Amino acid sequence: MIGTAQKIAIEKTKTSKITSVDFDNLPFGSVFSDHMLVCDYRNGAWEAPKIMPYQPISLDPSAKIFHYGQSVFEGMKAYRDKDHNIWLFRPEDNYKRLNVSSKRMAMPELPKEYFMEGLKTLLQLDRDWIPQSEGSSLYVRPFIFASGRGFHASPADEYKFIIATAPSGAYFSSGKVKVLIEETYSRAANGGVGFAKAGGNYAGQFYPTQLAVEKGYQQVIWTDDNAHEYIEEAGAMNIFVRIKDTLVTGPVSDRILDGITRKSILEIAREEGIPAEVRKLKVNEVVEAAKNGTLKEMFGAGTAAVVSPIAAFGYRGSDYDLPQLEKSYASRFKKRITDIQYNRSEDSFGWRF
Ligand code: COI
Repeated sequence: MIGTAQKIAIEKTKTSKITSVDFDNLPFGSVFSDHMLVCDYRNGAWEAPKIMPYQPISLDPSAKIFHYGQSVFEGMKAYRDKDHNIWLFRPEDNYKRLNVSSKRMAMPELPKEYFMEGLKTLLQLDRDWIPQSEGSSLYVRPFIFASGRGFHASPADEYKFIIATAPSGAYFSSGKVKVLIEETYSRAANGGVGFAKAGGNYAGQFYPTQLAVEKGYQQVIWTDDNAHEYIEEAGAMNIFVRIKDTLVTGPVSDRILDGITRKSILEIAREEGIPAEVRKLKVNEVVEAAKNGTLKEMFGAGTAAVVSPIAAFGYRGSDYDLPQLEKSYASRFKKRITDIQYNRSEDSFGWRF
């Protein structure tokens, strides 16, 4: 627990916005709940966290986040079950990864109590904002950024940790996604920051994704930064491919995010006896499998989109459609994971919190 000196101060909103929200038609991540948690790092230490009404924050124009992009974030969801209990999915894994990302960006580690107690207190206060309808949840965005001042290109001396939340519906409005295998741009490099949830990793994807959207695709499939020979990630998600009955995903590395949905799928596959291989996956292997009919499925996996089936992929000017399977692995994994998240299954692998 956070000690009494660090007790979370709560300033409640005077006017809740909740009645203005249409909970039956929620967009993803653009309606915000009443409160946020804010915690400052100054003079070499994290100060007591505060919960306050959701509001804009004021920063010095020289704050290093603006110039050098020192920022990391996490994506989580809070779920409401039919008895109105509130659940999180593997939150300690998000906490650990936040610190892994911070370390790479030369940012201070956040103590666990700040993250876990902050999360619990904020979610208790805004619990009415957690939707119940299928596919909806409260998207939780913990993030840390450099608020310290100065144009010197070196780590900041001040940071802010914020948790903001947004009641959200599905990440992709259409269920199935058409993707383009990218061979010009790279998302990450060896020795780089691809494994971290650093803000700039996502900004760097926007331009190549815009180009893909202009060509009629929704997302980019990232390949390695060397010869663009291996499949690495799908947009802002990890990627899985099913060839015959075997599930394949690339190994986590400097370049690939250690996704929580990714590793949950691998554990479920193990438990269900689905053959799964974690190995480097050649673009050629996937294209050949598409041509000879052994490519059964491709799907992205991540917190926001959960399991997102890929309907078709484009590569070197040709499009390859994936078969529509009645009993897909993607739907099986999605069901197992969401049953755990919404407390609909007894077995939880210890992931429900
Ligand atoms: C998530 O899946 O929660 C992510 O962090 C991806 C984000 C870019 C929406």
